[in-house]
Amino acid sequence: MAKSNKQFICQSCGSIYSKWTGKCEQCNEWNTLLEENNDKPSGPLSKSFGQKINFEYLNNENIEYPKLQTNLNEVDRVTGGGFVSGSVTLIGGDPGIGKSTLLLQIVGNLSKLGEDCVYVSGEESLSQIKMRADRLGIKNSSIKFASVTNASDIAVTISSSNKRQIIVVDSIQTMYLPQLDSAPGTVSQVRATTHELIIAAKKTNSVLILIGHVTKDGTIAGPRVLEHMVDTVLYFEGDNNFQFRILRSIKNRFGPTNEIGVFEMLANGLKEISNPSSLFLLDRQKNIPGNAIFAGLEGTRPILVEIQALVTPSTLASPRRTIVGWDISRLSMLCAVLEARCKIHLSNMDIFLNIVGGIKIFEPAADLAVAAAIISSVKNIAVPETSVFFGEIGLSGEVRKVTQPELRIKEAFKLGFDTFTLPIKQKVIDNKNMSFNNITLLQDLVELIGKNSEAI
Ligand code: TYD
Ligand code: MG
Repeated sequence: MAKSNKQFICQSCGSIYSKWTGKCEQCNEWNTLLEENNDKPSGPLSKSFGQKINFEYLNNENIEYPKLQTNLNEVDRVTGGGFVSGSVTLIGGDPGIGKSTLLLQIVGNLSKLGEDCVYVSGEESLSQIKMRADRLGIKNSSIKFASVTNASDIAVTISSSNKRQIIVVDSIQTMYLPQLDSAPGTVSQVRATTHELIIAAKKTNSVLILIGHVTKDGTIAGPRVLEHMVDTVLYFEGDNNFQFRILRSIKNRFGPTNEIGVFEMLANGLKEISNPSSLFLLDRQKNIPGNAIFAGLEGTRPILVEIQALVTPSTLASPRRTIVGWDISRLSMLCAVLEARCKIHLSNMDIFLNIVGGIKIFEPAADLAVAAAIISSVKNIAVPETSVFFGEIGLSGEVRKVTQPELRIKEAFKLGFDTFTLPIKQKVIDNKNMSFNNITLLQDLVELIGKNSEAI
């Protein structure tokens, strides 16, 4: 009997099965297996005859890696100084967050700087792209557009140019290779089209930027392997209810990761925000119990955000823990420490925690500020308006050191904050206009807020 070339591939992790099952044994996702042909493309991917390799020395002066600055400072910061020639970048984000707008602005700027820019869309027609370009005021630029989905055609077109190009593919999930039977967006198609496009772009030392959809849990749709294939992975995130957007680097072979770029979505496109702290603190109400300012760090950039907590008696058997912008398990831990070490009773209280402005905080250094907000709400005592907090809290209630205290302090001071509550031994700046509360235990923070809120 002829061997069937059908196989089932998990759309979440890329595992291959010979039979369909409801749950992927590798990643434990349900209903993610799709039948795909185990077909080998007859195009350039299947070339099996090798050739002798010519090795190069790294001290060869002719090997260059120029970075193409976009003149959008926030983008240049996140990419580590611009897009590198011959590199591949993947940008993921929720639908409607502004990926196409951002990329159009990037190529708009690069084309003004004399780069040869190509924008290929599989999602929108030319008239739709034109409408957006009109809105952004770049319709007269020299960007070349095409509304196609055949990745082979795109690869051939890219390779036929003998010039470096900037190529945007919007989105990788809409592209397909005709050699494969599977539908666009399936694991085999996404993997093969990416591979084909990468080869074409590297051949001409071009910059390839791929837009990727995200799944409901927020990761880029398609196999994880996609993230391995590219040089840089960026996420464009934000909340549709808020105007600002954050570009975050997750992987970068040419620069630092965890850098962020902040933008505001306006009627005529994305505007860069060079001082995000002032944006996050814009509508701040002063002297309200439950509010505390956290001096955080995103990559190398200090950012101040307001943390709001509301603690109210609960009528529910298991009290509510509603949280926006922070980690729920981190909050549970903090509540347990407050309860066990500081005798602050929270087990019959509802807790609502909000990081103002829709930004998400991942740093453990926010523990102390969150604790300050909760304690302030429980005790109904406002913390003074010019104080900021940072420090990680351990299970025994100890306040632990965080990275880069001086950067945080300087940024906060610049924005008018002069009182710092922080871990012991992290007083790093001598300035008589600043005052420092170095604390060892969470208990010290409770006393500080309870006894004399003015001193904080
Ligand atoms: P878009 O770039 O199409 O998002 P994505 O490609 O990530 O799906 O952005 C769509 C949203 O942005 C849409 O809701 C309209 C809004 N928008 C503006 O507010 N101002 C603008 O100048 C543009 C072009 C879009
Ligand atoms: Mg789009």
